[in-house]
Amino acid sequence: MQQNNQQTTNSVTDLPTLLKSQQGELDAVLMYNALAKVARHKKDAETFLQLAAEEGHHAMVFKELTGQTLLPRKTKAILLPILYRIIGRKRLYPLIAKGEYDAEKTYGPVADKYPTVQSVKADEKRHGDTVLSLLNSRD
Ligand SMILES: [Fe+2]
Ligand SMILES: [Fe+2]
Repeated sequence: MQQNNQQTTNSVTDLPTLLKSQQGELDAVLMYNALAKVARHKKDAETFLQLAAEEGHHAMVFKELTGQTLLPRKTKAILLPILYRIIGRKRLYPLIAKGEYDAEKTYGPVADKYPTVQSVKADEKRHGDTVLSLLNSRD
């Protein structure tokens, strides 16, 4: 029972962080789906669709913790395809990877408190590695 109370207290204190995380994941779903549409390399497009699905799963993990339903924002889904055209994938993908590695760091303290976030955190590292690896594949 005491553990439940502790969990509830943590949830309230951490709510802004959890909501921000949930929002970021939802936005990432749209972003990766939008990138999949404009990517000229087939492997990139397939990878982005897979990442979009995983970010959707992450959003659900945070939704379980917040109990709130949020709407995705389109900002990155609009901006990133434009950047893809202007600066190209070789300069854009490292920026996307950085966002993933930053998320991994941000989720560190959260994952320590909420076990379900552990695998989300690990996924973000893998996402960063995956996006960077696209630049090494020939297709
Ligand atoms: Fe994510
Ligand atoms: Fe991610």
